[in-house]
Amino acid sequence: MDWGMQNRLNKVIKEDGRCFFLPIDHGYFLGPTHRLEKPAETIEPLLPYCDALFCTRGVLRAAIDPAIDKPIILRVSGGPSIVGEDLANEVVTTSIDEIIRLNVAAVGLSIFVGSDYETQTIDNLAQLVNMCEDFGIPVMAVTAVGKETEKREARFLSLSCRIAAEMGAKVVKTYWCAKDFDKVVEGCPVPVVMAGGPKCETDREVLEFVHDGLQKGAVGINLGRNIWQNQHPVPMAKALHAVIHGNATVNEAMDIFNETVNGK
Ligand code: 5RP
Repeated sequence: MDWGMQNRLNKVIKEDGRCFFLPIDHGYFLGPTHRLEKPAETIEPLLPYCDALFCTRGVLRAAIDPAIDKPIILRVSGGPSIVGEDLANEVVTTSIDEIIRLNVAAVGLSIFVGSDYETQTIDNLAQLVNMCEDFGIPVMAVTAVGKETEKREARFLSLSCRIAAEMGAKVVKTYWCAKDFDKVVEGCPVPVVMAGGPKCETDREVLEFVHDGLQKGAVGINLGRNIWQNQHPVPMAKALHAVIHGNATVNEAMDIFNETVNGK
């Protein structure tokens, strides 16, 4: 792998082979998402625990201090909104000139396998990889499901992840699933990162699925709402950091969570 590409990948996937990405890109289709109305205020106390931020160029320029010491993964796909006809109808929103100008460590884009826009979004990925390879910029593919949340099962996720890797993604972000998640990871020749989805019912549930996914081969998380929409965002980020980079068990992570909530 070329030095520049490897150097950028090393910025987002740390020495232990693990990563904790904090996504704040939700506004690109959801608008002013709860607790993300002022992104700079949301992320400020969470930054010590995460390895990279995932956001659009708009939020980056408007709300993120250029002196930030965390690498940026730039969301470069979009188009449809949550009230539009089809969330899958995405295009590439950001030029390679912009990607380079913003000095980002990586870019991220969604593919919608099995949708009416399957070919279009896979082509988006392939063309983005073509552009980014020239400049040593890693592409993270997001295996999106739109509103069809029932698609979060192993066969569909395996298919999506493998296609993303075949198109040249250097990292694939996908959903954890309770059954056969190890098969999803095994079938994907590049690192797999877990997405979150809507807020889990309990704090323990978040820690459990992240811990399980890591045991099954995922290298980390790209988790947003389950952190910054939590009643206690910092304790959750701290507990997740311990699971990802400290190999904490679920019980140990729950202790970290509770101790931080109680100010110990
Ligand atoms: C949207 C995204 C988000 O980055 C992703 O959904 C992660 O955030 P959350 O954990 O809140 O789902 O890629 O397509």
